[in-house]
Amino acid sequence: MSAFAVPSPADLGAAVLARLDELASITDEPGKITRLYLSKSHRRAVTLVESWMRDAGMSVRLDPLATLIGTYPGSNPDAPHLLLGSHIDSVRDAGRYDGTLGVVSAIEIVRQLNAAGQRLPFGLTVLAFGDEEGVRFPSTLTGSAAVAGRFNPKILDEKGEDGITRRMALAEFGCPEGDPAAPWQGQSGLGYLELHIEQGPVLEAENRPVGLVTAIQGVTRGSCRIVGLAGHAGTVPMAMRRDALSAAAEMVLAVERIGRETAGLVATIGQLRVPGASVNTIPGAVEFSLDFRSEIDAVRKEAEARIRQAIEAVAAARKVEANLAYTYEAPASECDPGLRLTMAEAAESVVQKPIRLLPSGAGHDAMSFRGKLPFMMLFVRSKAGISHSPDEFTSEADLGIATATLFRAVLDLAKKHD
Ligand code: GLV
Ligand code: MN
Ligand code: MN
Repeated sequence: MSAFAVPSPADLGAAVLARLDELASITDEPGKITRLYLSKSHRRAVTLVESWMRDAGMSVRLDPLATLIGTYPGSNPDAPHLLLGSHIDSVRDAGRYDGTLGVVSAIEIVRQLNAAGQRLPFGLTVLAFGDEEGVRFPSTLTGSAAVAGRFNPKILDEKGEDGITRRMALAEFGCPEGDPAAPWQGQSGLGYLELHIEQGPVLEAENRPVGLVTAIQGVTRGSCRIVGLAGHAGTVPMAMRRDALSAAAEMVLAVERIGRETAGLVATIGQLRVPGASVNTIPGAVEFSLDFRSEIDAVRKEAEARIRQAIEAVAAARKVEANLAYTYEAPASECDPGLRLTMAEAAESVVQKPIRLLPSGAGHDAMSFRGKLPFMMLFVRSKAGISHSPDEFTSEADLGIATATLFRAVLDLAKKHD
């Protein structure tokens, strides 16, 4: 590999931000950023990112679960690949940096290498995953799981909130049929690197532009349907009611209490639906979601049991039916110590001071690679720790520092591999 200098953080920051802004204009809700998995806006985002990948010198394909895969071969076309990436789907009313940064920064690195005619001793594969947020279907991280060799065909028959199965949505999206298992398992993949915004307040509080992730906490998701008895709001005496919404309210507070009282656990009910509600009807049925996480799998498993008991106790006391199902789980996943060392050296050379280690509270595509391929994540500072909100913000200067760090790490790995 001939000498190649990483471009300045200022240039990288400007290039990355221009593309983040362009992606932010692709949405299903005008005035907001809402780009759910397999939606029309996700399709438009794939088309745009595909054109960026091609312009950067990659060959591109869409896999059967709508992961966009760009490849830039190494100096030897049979060389193994280093994987870089993140996701281009979003939550509803999202920010512009979550996920997109990891994709756009990786494309910029390949673009620069290609423009300089530079090949590395390994190939680079850039992955733009589509199902990281898991907002539309019960399971999540399905694209990265398949790429890592963990495809579970049962997910194809899962139905989303709109009653459409994943299989139907994938066909409508234009995904090719076939086995989504990708060729980067075992021998041919070197590792996976993901740059992501922190989505928390730690780096800003300590005045640090970037940090190194130690591990990603495990998660359990579920849904619960409460069935009581609908009735007239004016005629049924209070003592004779089986109000599903009042029962759900007690359950929400019970889940919050378990989250507050259990060290190392966070527990959230983010969605509550009262189907067919009217102002003058006692709610007969309610549905809510559950999401709880811990860095320690035993803590999360114990919470699964305690939350179930708490929900069943409220249901029994209020004479309603509770159908709780845990629909998705992923264990805590540790980043690779060797890749962490490479990333630390790269970050120190860019930032010129020791770099902080921190765990990830949010889930990421990187966790799909646990036990399959070494992976490492780099975090960049988020303003006020805000994410999953239009107020999400990372400065152009920090975007540049983070992209320069990722670039440096890729080149350092290339040197070690030469
Ligand atoms: C994704 O942002 C998640 O952690 O749920
Ligand atoms: Mn994300
Ligand atoms: Mn997110």
